[in-house]
Amino acid sequence: MKFLVTGAGGMIGANLALYLESQGHEVLALDHFSVGVKSNLKDFKGIVYTGDICTYNYDKLGKLDGIFHQAAITDTTVMDEKLMMSVNVDAFVKILEYAGRTGCQKVVYASSAATYGKGGVPMSEDQESAPANIYGVSKVEMEKAAKEFTSQNPGVKAVGLRYFNVYGPLEFHKKSAASMIYQLYKQISSGKAPRVFKMGEQFRDFVYVKDVVRANMKAFEYRGNDAFNVGTGLPTTFNQVIELLNRFLDAHLPTDYFDNPYDFYQEATQANMSLSDKVLKFKPIYPPEKGIADYVEWLQKQKSLDG
Ligand SMILES: NC(=O)c1ccc[n+]([C@@H]2O[C@H](COP(=O)([O-])OP(=O)(O)OC[C@H]3O[C@@H](n4cnc5c(N)ncnc54)[C@H](O)[C@@H]3O)[C@@H](O)[C@H]2O)c1
Repeated sequence: MKFLVTGAGGMIGANLALYLESQGHEVLALDHFSVGVKSNLKDFKGIVYTGDICTYNYDKLGKLDGIFHQAAITDTTVMDEKLMMSVNVDAFVKILEYAGRTGCQKVVYASSAATYGKGGVPMSEDQESAPANIYGVSKVEMEKAAKEFTSQNPGVKAVGLRYFNVYGPLEFHKKSAASMIYQLYKQISSGKAPRVFKMGEQFRDFVYVKDVVRANMKAFEYRGNDAFNVGTGLPTTFNQVIELLNRFLDAHLPTDYFDNPYDFYQEATQANMSLSDKVLKFKPIYPPEKGIADYVEWLQKQKSLDG
């Protein structure tokens, strides 16, 4: 089959493009590489297009079997609402229109747990959206746009995936926006005390990027137009992450707890995975202990390759 992956230079896009290619598919990769990096695609054999999703001439790519849309402004601190909506929402609508025009029947797109904002946990798909920043608002608007488009264009199915806190290979380029797991790994592996806000009992639903790729495959097979949680369903505290990293790195560093300077800080994320389990048929296979072990092995290998 022939697929387009947008945001293919980014963490999730690159993992997806490489996975689809490994399954024998023809994969077209699109990114403007202002955040993502070409080195994430160094093992990718398909065509890499450098372009902006807002202005790209998609028609030249022809008819596709599916589009995996990952490109977005992913920096949740961006305050320019016009820019956020134009990249995250308007460009997505252009992609849906391209799918409709060319007979592409499936668009799988990245939504986010940011649609729940500070909502109660575990977070369920039928819960009221309560985005706490413009980024979260843009993801709510994406889902609305997908519903509206698919109701008027029944030939296209659009499935949204509300990723929780994704971690895993190929996130170096995200710098301070990379996962907490990677930040803590960097500190511990370089012999520094891991630093977290007092008292490290904040928790997240950390989901491994390999599970995120598997969720995308399930979404491609799904015949509806819904949005699903993509997490593990497990709340993992920062203290637990530190304990696992210390164990896997054979380190014994004490944690440096410091005051949280932010008025707004998300204390907890956790997905209710019932709907994904029953309807999408997606079951994560990497609980944090297994995912972090796999990731640390990969990171240590990269470190030894880099000398
Ligand atoms: N990583 C997470 O924890 C997480 C959680 C929830 C949702 N998401 C969503 O998943 C998707 C992928 O996230 P990621 O973690 O891989 O982020 P990422 O920043 O690594 O990847 C996003 C990619 O999109 C590209 N991009 C941005 N604007 C573009 C534009 N105008 N034209 C072309 N390319 C553009 C960037 O260069 C980057 O390579 C995003 O839509 C993000 O909102 C991620």
